[in-house]
Amino acid sequence: MHRGQKYSIVVGISLILMSSFFVPIARTVESQQPVSSNVSSQRIQTSQEDSTSIASCMTSGCHGSRNAEAPIWQRAGRIWFDDDPHAKAYTHLLTESSLKIAERLLHRTFTSVNDETYRVFLEQRCVSCHASAHGSRDQYLLGADCQVCHGPAKAWGDHHYSAEWRDKKEKRFDGTEMLNTENLASRAKVCTSCHVGNLKPEAVGREVDHDLMAAGHPPMHFELETYLRAYPAHWNSEQDAELFGKTVARERWEIGQLIHAQSRLELLAERAKSAATTEANGRVWPELTEYSCYGCHHSLVGPGWRQARPSRPLYDWDAWTLAGLKYAVPTAHQSELNQLVANLKAITDTQYASSNASGTQIAAENLLGFVNDRIRLRKSENAPTIDQIKSDLQVLLQEETGDKTWEAATQWYCAMIAHLASLSIDDKPKKNLSSTTTEQIQVDFLNGPVTYHPRNLDSNRAHLQELLRKTQP
Ligand code: HEC
Ligand code: HEC
Ligand code: HEC
Ligand code: HEC
Repeated sequence: MHRGQKYSIVVGISLILMSSFFVPIARTVESQQPVSSNVSSQRIQTSQEDSTSIASCMTSGCHGSRNAEAPIWQRAGRIWFDDDPHAKAYTHLLTESSLKIAERLLHRTFTSVNDETYRVFLEQRCVSCHASAHGSRDQYLLGADCQVCHGPAKAWGDHHYSAEWRDKKEKRFDGTEMLNTENLASRAKVCTSCHVGNLKPEAVGREVDHDLMAAGHPPMHFELETYLRAYPAHWNSEQDAELFGKTVARERWEIGQLIHAQSRLELLAERAKSAATTEANGRVWPELTEYSCYGCHHSLVGPGWRQARPSRPLYDWDAWTLAGLKYAVPTAHQSELNQLVANLKAITDTQYASSNASGTQIAAENLLGFVNDRIRLRKSENAPTIDQIKSDLQVLLQEETGDKTWEAATQWYCAMIAHLASLSIDDKPKKNLSSTTTEQIQVDFLNGPVTYHPRNLDSNRAHLQELLRKTQP
C-alpha cells in the first residue's frame, strides 16, 4: 500500500470498536459468558495420566489446595483457576466478540462456536496465546495454563519437590524446559512472548497483526510492572523484594521496559525479514501494527484533542515502545539511543517503508543490539540508591506536559509509579500505595486514548507529588 492511498481510506475512519477497544485492564473478565454452555464442566476434566495436562499439578496436596490456611504455593493452582485472566483466555474465544473477529476476518458467518471450521480457525490464529500449545484440544479449555509461564508440566515432573532442588537456585532451570519466572528478565520474556508477540522459529507463532486488530482484537500495550500489579498473584508477593531488594518495583519496571523493547524489535526484525525474503507469498509490508494507531485513526465520537493538533506523521513507529525505552536508558546512553532510533525511523516512518523491508530489518537489528547490550550491562552497574531514585522521580515529575501523546503520557506515568512504589516499600505499607496508584493509572490512562487529554496530566502530577511527600520521612 502506498501512503496516499492509505490516507484517503483512513481520513474519517471510525473505529467501530472504539468504546470497548483500548487496554481493558479494568474490565472484568466475566463480562462475557461463553456462547457454549458446556464449557465450564469440561474445563478441568483432563486425564491425570496425560503428561501434557496440568491435572497432576492441581491435586490438593500439590498446587490445588482449597484450604485458606495452606501455604500459597499449595493454593497457587486454585488462585489461578478462580481469579486468573489467563484461565479464561480460551473460553473468551468461545464468545460472541471472538466469533465476530473470525467472521470479519473470514468474511463469512458461523452458526455456533462449535462449528468445526471455527475451531480450526482458533487453532491456527488464536490458541498460541489463548491456550497452552502443549496440550490437546480438550485442554484448550483450561486457557493459558501453568505451562505457558512455567514450561511443560512433564519438565517439572517429580523432581521439583526437594530442598536440594530449591538450593540450586537459578541453576535448577539450566538445560531444562522449565521456564524461570523468578528471574525478572526471563519472567518479562515469558509475558512479552504473548503480550507483544513472538515469531521466532522456535516459538508457536504468536502474532496479532493489523488484520486481527481491524477485525476487533484489542491492541496490546504491555508494561510489566503495571501488569504484575493488575495480576492476581498466586505467589508470595514479598518474594521479589526478598530476592531483589526493596526497590524491586523500579527494577521490574526497568527490566520490563528493556525486555519489552527487545521483544518488539525482534518481532519487527522477523516481520521485515519475512517480507524481504519471501516477496511472492510474503507478508504485507509494512505491517500496520508496527505503527502508532493514532497516526492513522482517530475517534469520531467527539472532537478529541488529537484532531485539534497539528497533524502527526502518518507512519510513526511504535510510540509506546519508544516512550518507555527512553525512560529506561541512562542519560549517558541517550544520544546513542536517539541515533539508532532516528536511523530506524528514517526508514519505517517514510512512504518508502514498503520498498525497504531489508533496510528496516538491519536498522531494527542495530537498535536491538543496543537494547541487548543494555540488558547485559545493567547487571554489572550499581543499582540506583534510594536518593538516586528520589532525584530521578523529581526529574520525571518536572517534565513538561507539553502535548504528550497518550503513549508517551502513559509510559511517563508508569515510570513515576514504579519509582514511587519502590520508595514507599521502605516506610509505608505498600498496599496503600499500590491500590491508590493502580486505580489512578486505570482511570486516567489505561482506559485508553479515547478519554485521554494531556491537560489531565497536571492533576496527576499534583497527585503524585503529594504521594512523594508522604514517602519522605
Ligand atoms: C500464552 C500467552 C500469555 C502469556 C505467556 C502471558 N499472558 Fe497475560 N494474557 C494473555 C491473554 C490471551 C490474555 C487475555 C485473556 C482474556 O481475557 O481472554 C492475557 C491477559 C492478561 C492480563 C489481564 C489484562 C486485562 O486487560 O485485564 C494480565 C494482567 C496479564 N495477562 C499479565 C501477564 C503477565 C504479568 C504475564 C507474565 C508473567 C503474562 N500475562 C503472560 C496471554 C498470555
Ligand atoms: C500474540 C498473542 C495473541 C494472539 C495470537 C491472539 N491473542 Fe487475543 N489477546 C492476547 C492478549 C495478550 C490479550 C490481552 C490484551 C490486554 O488486555 O492487554 C488478548 C485479548 C483478547 C480478547 C479480549 C479478552 C477480554 O478480556 O475481553 C479477545 C476477545 C481476543 N483476545 C480474541 C482473540 C482471537 C479471536 C484470536 C484469534 C483470531 C486472538 N485473540 C489471538 C494475545 C493474543
Ligand atoms: C501468566 C503466567 C503464569 C501462569 C499462567 C502461572 N504462573 Fe505460577 N507464577 C508466575 C510468576 C510470575 C510467579 C512468581 C515468580 C516465581 O516464583 O517463579 C509464579 C509463581 C508460582 C509458584 C511459586 C509460589 C510461591 O510463592 O512459592 C507456584 C507454586 C506456581 N507459580 C504455580 C503455578 C501453577 C500450578 C499454575 C497453573 C495452575 C501457574 N503457576 C500458572 C507466573 C504464572
Ligand atoms: C498507517 C496507517 C494505519 C495505522 C498505523 C493503523 N491502521 Fe488500522 N486501518 C488502516 C486502514 C487503511 C484501515 C482500513 C483497511 C483495513 O481494514 O485494513 C484500517 C482499519 C482498522 C480497523 C477497522 C476499522 C473499521 O471501521 O472497519 C481497526 C479497528 C483498526 N484499523 C485498528 C488499528 C489499531 C489498533 C492500530 C494500532 C495498533 C492501527 N489500526 C494502526 C490504517 C492504519
